[in-house]
Amino acid sequence: MTIKWDNRFSVDHLTIDAEHKLLLTTINAIEVSLRHPEDTEPLLFFIDQLHEFALTHFKHEEMLQLKHKYPFIEGNSKGHDSLIVDLDRIRDDVHRIAKKPTLSVTDMADLHHHAAYLAKDWLIAHVLKEDLKMKGFMGDGYDE
Ligand SMILES: [Fe+2]
Repeated sequence: MTIKWDNRFSVDHLTIDAEHKLLLTTINAIEVSLRHPEDTEPLLFFIDQLHEFALTHFKHEEMLQLKHKYPFIEGNSKGHDSLIVDLDRIRDDVHRIAKKPTLSVTDMADLHHHAAYLAKDWLIAHVLKEDLKMKGFMGDGYDE
């Protein structure tokens, strides 16, 4: 099931919100690509895109936090490190599964599990809840 952007995810910063929306949309694209298991190329493309967007976003967020003297920068940066470890593990497993000549029922269940985990545990539970602490510390983002 794809997830919808909700204003309670907003950190009231234009740029960071836009990047979070991009991460969310890319995870939705992963979910949608699982509807066509006969062609795993889109799935591999979107998981690699998510990886790239996440690395860029975390770096950008840390740079903005430094600029705005965000008081919880250290905890946020450690959180990013573990999110990357988690994402590396999932991306590797998606590649391992999706490159098989045919996918079993178990393979498909594993891929759906990864997509659901990315949406609920990886993006919403960690990135958005942790990032909501930035509200009020970072300006509005219109100039960044
Ligand atoms: Fe973030």
